[in-house]
Amino acid sequence: MASTNDQALQQNISLPGDGLDAARMPGHWLLARLGKRVLRPGGVELTRWMLDALGVDPEDRVVELAADLGATARLTLTRRPAAYTAVDRDVAAVATLSTLTGPGPTEARAVRSDAAATGLPDGCATVVYGEAMLTMQPCPAKRRVVREARRLLDGSTGRYALHELCLLPDDLDPALADRITADLQDAIHVGARPLTPSDWSELLITEGFTVTAQKTAPMALLEPRRLIDDEGLIPALRIAGRALRDPSALRRVLHMRHVFRRHSAHLGAISLLAVPTPTRA
Ligand SMILES: C[S@@+](CC[C@H](N)C(=O)[O-])C[C@H]1O[C@@H](n2cnc3c(N)ncnc32)[C@H](O)[C@@H]1O
Repeated sequence: MASTNDQALQQNISLPGDGLDAARMPGHWLLARLGKRVLRPGGVELTRWMLDALGVDPEDRVVELAADLGATARLTLTRRPAAYTAVDRDVAAVATLSTLTGPGPTEARAVRSDAAATGLPDGCATVVYGEAMLTMQPCPAKRRVVREARRLLDGSTGRYALHELCLLPDDLDPALADRITADLQDAIHVGARPLTPSDWSELLITEGFTVTAQKTAPMALLEPRRLIDDEGLIPALRIAGRALRDPSALRRVLHMRHVFRRHSAHLGAISLLAVPTPTRA
């Protein structure tokens, strides 16, 4: 079955970043335009770990922050939560997310808003998660998004998870961390600011969470093996074909991969699971 992007590309439905020049557009939108659905460092495998760790079930009310084209949303909906709300700030992404339906009776909807101020009610969710979006935020905005997740969660049963890019190891030389971050920003044209595993944990702890589980995985987003695992063989071949037919896009993709490979010893993917830290009465 053709993927959402293939359908969108075939049916000319607008995708995030449509009309932007391949040489300058954010890397994740360039990849989406080539047909890639999975736009996160640890791929579908780490996403499945995260959803298993969250234990999404038919009692749950789920909010996904930065759901983009809905690749994880589809996996979540197969777990038949009572309610699923996708949040993204991109118009085209929200248009695609609004077409989502689950196999079960899930009440599914999409909301266009900033993940730091969703406009959703206090305590409306039992599960909140976000993938490959906090890395793109400056530190103050990272805090606001995590604080918003805390506000959305129903204190007693709430679970929060993230899946992001991380710098390794924890005691990485700050000067090298800055160089890697600068190379990343130059390649993906997004203000990416990954953190070390302990700094990601610290961010959650500071905003009122207790981290209960963690998993890391290689950052292999543009490696052939991972591309096929994440997208499937035929979609992966289609993505490669579109890149080969678009010299400007191909240059960008090869540059991104070159930077990911050059720093592969210090780049990884991380997923953290956390619960609200009980507040003293
Ligand atoms: C790299 S993509 C990741 C998409 C998806 N979560 C995934 O893992 O495949 C980043 C997405 O985050 C959204 N985004 C970034 N910052 C946001 C914010 N502050 N509020 C809402 N959406 C945001 C972008 O519109 C884009 O859809």
